[in-house]
Amino acid sequence: MMDEVRERERVYIFDTTLRDGEQSPGCSMTVPEKLRMAQKLAELGVDILEAGFPIASEGDYQAVRLVSTELPWVRVAALARACRLDVERAASALEPAKLSRIHTFIATSDIHLKYKLRKSRQQVLEEACAAVELARQYTDDVEFSAEDATRTDPDYLEQVTLAVVNAGAKTVNLPDTVGYSVPEEHAELIGRMARAVNGRAIISVHCHNDLGLATANSLAAVLAGARQVECTINGIGERAGNCALEEIVMTMKTRADRFPFVTNISTEHLFPASQLLSSLISFGPQPNKAIVGSNAFAHEAGIHQDGYLKEKSTYEIIDPKTVGIPEGRLVLGKHSGRHALRAKCEHLGYQLSKDELDAVYHGFIEIADRKKGVTDQEILALIHTLKAGEQVRADRVAAD
Ligand code: KIV
Ligand code: ZN
Repeated sequence: MMDEVRERERVYIFDTTLRDGEQSPGCSMTVPEKLRMAQKLAELGVDILEAGFPIASEGDYQAVRLVSTELPWVRVAALARACRLDVERAASALEPAKLSRIHTFIATSDIHLKYKLRKSRQQVLEEACAAVELARQYTDDVEFSAEDATRTDPDYLEQVTLAVVNAGAKTVNLPDTVGYSVPEEHAELIGRMARAVNGRAIISVHCHNDLGLATANSLAAVLAGARQVECTINGIGERAGNCALEEIVMTMKTRADRFPFVTNISTEHLFPASQLLSSLISFGPQPNKAIVGSNAFAHEAGIHQDGYLKEKSTYEIIDPKTVGIPEGRLVLGKHSGRHALRAKCEHLGYQLSKDELDAVYHGFIEIADRKKGVTDQEILALIHTLKAGEQVRADRVAAD
């Protein structure tokens, strides 16, 4: 067992809920709200906490400063474009941090070079290296991101990757900025860059979810040699969002047979972190969201409920407690059978005889046919009506 643990390589979790996540519509947070979320992320055990993009706004600058001041044991990252003004602003915001990272980026794909930056490949290469060198004057932990890496000519990407490592970058992030990549292709690209770097820097991935593949692409990248994953709680982020932290962490944990890696995440804080984020921004995860959605551990189909009640592992691959949810929920509806109804009644404090259960089941099916889902209150009302009827009959027998 110990050998198995020792062999497992560490994957670093870089959380960007407060930067990439926060910059998307409906997700803005005030500075104190960012601090509350940062405290939760620290409890969760993220390795690097990207707290903002200081040049972008005064709020971002203050958030990075406050998080750096209040959470000195956490490595705080600040984003900066590859230019002097941005890097200096990021460095200034990070001044109070005990553990800081400057995360500087520039786009490397021809599409971005031609239409957005209007710069040559050589210019971008030089600016990337200059920004890394400048950032290294403020901290020895510098990350470089090649924006739109997955649509960049791989030969040029390799050239940039090696150049920024020589300039002092400790982490090279290769974002799938527009969520265009597919797992096999992503693994190929990441594997090539990891081999080129050959342990001189950590290769990181940052996958957007435009095709719903952010988690799959991140996992493929880890198998190919990436050792840092950038992600967000509930998968929030630009457009369709980023790789969801809870998904990447729980996949590696649940399928440890396929992923011989460990993270520093205390998984029982996943659901509370998701809930806190939902309360701070203007939306929560969709009900069927993996790991943290309200239906993620809810069983409604009769056959599923029956199997689950006999042995949870028939329909549950994760114990809900592992992610901080007290227990799996049985959702009673028209597909539920007597077995599930009995369990629900017991949960509500009532042991029913077979005849009593039949009577309650009859009323339950009538309600379930009329509307979606039957609430605990409605089941309690059925039980109370039944019990009241039994009492009346008992009183009559006693009086006779
Ligand atoms: O999606 C992206 O490319 C980014 C970078 C700034 C890391 O968010
Ligand atoms: Zn991004």
